[in-house]
Amino acid sequence: MPIHTLDNNYWVLETDHTAYALGVNTAGALVHAYWGERLPVPTDYPAAPDAIFHASFTGAGHMWPEEYVGLTGLKYVEPALSVSFADGVRDLVLQVVGGAVAGDTLVVTLRDAHYPLRVELHYRAHAAHDLIERWAVVHNDGAPITLERVFSAQWQVPIGRSYRLSYLSGRWIDEFQLHRQPLSPGVFVRESRRITTSHHASPWFALDDHAGETHGEVWFGALAWSGNWKLAAEVTDFGRTRVSLGLNDWDFAWRLGAGERFTTPACLGGYTQDGFGAASRRLHAFVRDNVLPHGRSPHKVLYNSWEATTFSVDVESQSKLAELAAEMGVELFVMDDGWFQGRNSDDAGLGDWWPDPKKFPDGLTPLIARVNALGMDFGLWLEPEMVNPNSDLYRAHPDWVIHFPTRARTESRNQLILNLARADVQNYLITTIDKLLSDHNITFIKWDMNRNVSEPGWPAAGDRQREIWVRYVEGLYRVWGTLRERHPNVVWQSCSGGGGRADLGILRLADQVWVSDNTDALSRLNIQHGYSQMLPADTMEAWVTDINAGRISLDFRFHVAMQGVLGVGGNLLHWSPAERAKAARFVAQYKEIRPIVQNGELYRLIEPSDSSPYVVTQYVNIARSEAVIFAFRRIGGGADAMLDGYHAIDPSQPAALKLQGLDPDARYKITGQGAARSGLAWMRAGLTVALGHQESKILRVRRVDDSGS
Ligand code: DGJ
Repeated sequence: MPIHTLDNNYWVLETDHTAYALGVNTAGALVHAYWGERLPVPTDYPAAPDAIFHASFTGAGHMWPEEYVGLTGLKYVEPALSVSFADGVRDLVLQVVGGAVAGDTLVVTLRDAHYPLRVELHYRAHAAHDLIERWAVVHNDGAPITLERVFSAQWQVPIGRSYRLSYLSGRWIDEFQLHRQPLSPGVFVRESRRITTSHHASPWFALDDHAGETHGEVWFGALAWSGNWKLAAEVTDFGRTRVSLGLNDWDFAWRLGAGERFTTPACLGGYTQDGFGAASRRLHAFVRDNVLPHGRSPHKVLYNSWEATTFSVDVESQSKLAELAAEMGVELFVMDDGWFQGRNSDDAGLGDWWPDPKKFPDGLTPLIARVNALGMDFGLWLEPEMVNPNSDLYRAHPDWVIHFPTRARTESRNQLILNLARADVQNYLITTIDKLLSDHNITFIKWDMNRNVSEPGWPAAGDRQREIWVRYVEGLYRVWGTLRERHPNVVWQSCSGGGGRADLGILRLADQVWVSDNTDALSRLNIQHGYSQMLPADTMEAWVTDINAGRISLDFRFHVAMQGVLGVGGNLLHWSPAERAKAARFVAQYKEIRPIVQNGELYRLIEPSDSSPYVVTQYVNIARSEAVIFAFRRIGGGADAMLDGYHAIDPSQPAALKLQGLDPDARYKITGQGAARSGLAWMRAGLTVALGHQESKILRVRRVDDSGS
């Protein structure tokens, strides 16, 4: 039983290694008591904290670590919930009704002291994954109220310590940059106001005070939502640190009528004593086991035609690429943008999702048949949420886009956003895409989204237009979810001009993510490093392209992409026979290591940093019988820069690489490293990998029996 109830007012959620405790303090508030290592017995956990009186300026409610803050009295911290009642009252007095445990879930119910408003706080213990999943349900049993903020969770960490916040930020072609920064009193906000998750920040965090990759306490979390979100990391002047995470309250208002309820997205939180690596491995395992629609099934090696042919697609151009891709061992051929009605550049066609008759006079079937005959599956690019004003769809339904009637409709990439909050728009997309999938043998869809919102109006919704931020995403989930149900074997990729929509919400629908339009292998090392903090390698589509091919070897480019779901996106017509033969060898090698990369555990042996030219990752299979090491040497400064081009071995060798995750008692052999040694030896004494400038290597690690074979 992972959840214990003590005295009917204190609860301990236990996972295999951690515990999360909350209870009602002497003042009747629901407060946080403990989040850390699991202790021997339920009575070991600290009492629900009370407040210490400070001064007439600050009330007790400001001081204690409330689980879900409603603003009332002398409380000035970040609230979790803000409402406006029908009579204009904007003060929320949440009182604990009680808690109920059902299986792995605790629900604590709070009720307003005066109004018939109930809040259910849900806590689900994922024991094997050492994670707590939280969400809130607000029930209104009275006159309509307006929700002005409704977060999923507030995560409290132990008082009196100075924390560092790790977060991901970036921009188009520079997503998932990992930052670690000390928090000081005040509120530090990361958010999206773009109607989608965004390239600029990701709904993920980690807090620590002295952790590293392999050691130290880390508290971390991620939100399962693909629209506007907000993370507020707050340090009070009294030394309390909390992270609030949920839907963004910016420009948000939701009318909750009598008898209605509002359910927030779920937010995951976890604790580990084993550093950032363990934190990300917990999220990875959870995503594989509990989020991804196809679970741990392997992903195919794909070829994508975008960088080769851009909009100039037709049967002939695609068939030529497909033939070369098939020779290389590619398993899935994806035709990108440019295939549909009127689409010769980015200024027309979005919305008209049928084959362009000039490019495909007999439809898509001849090309698909050709690709299938070559032994590959066929995949297609779509951008369902968008419309070009120059399209039949827009000419027929100009009112279907997000807009304010008195304002110009700002175009970006010549396109506008269909209002997926509208049921008619959702139904149109479901019908159109369903037909496309029903009429063709398509097993993969790359779902793109190439702009963010402007003029967020929804005229038909009258005074409820601010609900668009949530209803749009719910509409998106409905469209995508319905298509998934109808076509369960299709694999979907979430793309938004690269990694603009990567989160635990979309991964309930999408099997993988196109991580970035930046396919430069050196940039990818950083981008993939940041991405891997939150999401696993089997969701991380990575292509080998021609970007900077003149200065980054094919080997290096393949090795970088082989750390995720391998794809090829270069113009194969320009690759020499020798390059294609080499690529075929890499594809074959990837297929051998695919189960380890796509389903194994990731250990970062050397993280990308400015102080070292090395980046090394290690993937270990679940049985700990096999591992694969990817070692890269980038160009650093000083001697590195001087030696660039010579591919010389720098005489200053890197520190020994200490492997992780092996069975200490088993014996392992490693490519080029001589006789077998114990897992403990490889993890403590390590091995040395000599690399020239901008060189990379893959080393296979295999468990051997006592005879050494
Ligand atoms: C943006 C995507 O990220 C690219 O890979 C490509 O699909 C283009 N859109 C097509 O317009």
